[in-house]
Amino acid sequence: MVDRVRVVRAMPALRRAVGQWREAGHKVALVPTMGALHAGHIALVRAAKRRAARVVVSIFVNPAQFAPEEDLASYPRNMDSDLATLERLAVDAVWAPSTDAMYPAGFATRVVPAGAATADLEDRFRPHFFAGVATVVAKLLVQCAPDFAMFGEKDYQQLKVVEHMARDLDLPIRIVAVPTVREKDGLALSSRNAYLCAREREVAPALYRVLKECGGRIASGESLPRVIDEGGRSIERAGFILDYLEARHADTLARIGSSGEGPIRILVAARLGKTRLIDNLAV
Ligand code: PAJ
Repeated sequence: MVDRVRVVRAMPALRRAVGQWREAGHKVALVPTMGALHAGHIALVRAAKRRAARVVVSIFVNPAQFAPEEDLASYPRNMDSDLATLERLAVDAVWAPSTDAMYPAGFATRVVPAGAATADLEDRFRPHFFAGVATVVAKLLVQCAPDFAMFGEKDYQQLKVVEHMARDLDLPIRIVAVPTVREKDGLALSSRNAYLCAREREVAPALYRVLKECGGRIASGESLPRVIDEGGRSIERAGFILDYLEARHADTLARIGSSGEGPIRILVAARLGKTRLIDNLAV
């Protein structure tokens, strides 16, 4: 029998809980999520538990990071099964504010990141996205005041934006990167994989296959533009509509001309039917 997980829906209760843990000398780690939890999220929770005696998982589907034509309404929501998962993992609290609690009437402040957030990758296709993410992550970090906050490498540009924001705003919080969790066939776990039909699901692992192929070829010294160009065409041949496949500087996400300018990260976004998938790989 596991204890029911503690669900916190209002700021004063969250502050009280975190305050008590701090007084007792415990470190606190936060795992921000939008729910529909899968093994990728669970890896973040386990990493949090290794760092800190107390772990808070936030579940908040953040309207500010969805454009009007995007999937806010249909984004998968499984609160009951998420709470059961977090109960089994024995997290200390689930921070699940309502939209009104997060963005009360009159809310008028946004965090608008530059640098990695304007690298011309995700931001080219989702121009609203990183201001929405940075605003909610800044709020979550201030609300929970953790020692550590865990983010997945799966959303690599997001990870870089959050690292930069924490530094720029002098937040006394260590941002911890957690490697991407994949299915056996290489597909990166994502809440949006649930949208794939059986045929699309069969095609989807091609994205990671091509990333690995490109990574191997770049590492062995082949011309970067040629590898990327051919990789893009392989992705399209597999049945995707390609948004981008790019090799960038792994820290700044700046464009690079050759592998000597590394460390390199290859980033990809492509659509299969209605579903947009992203992935990335270190070279
Ligand atoms: P969400 O997509 O729910 O992801 C929450 C966290 O889980 C992110 O840090 C993401 O990178 C990580 N994650 C997702 N899939 C993963 C995988 N296969 N392996 C490892 N980590 C993975 O990202 C968001 O929510 C939101 O933008 C959020 C940061 C919560 C702000 O609203």
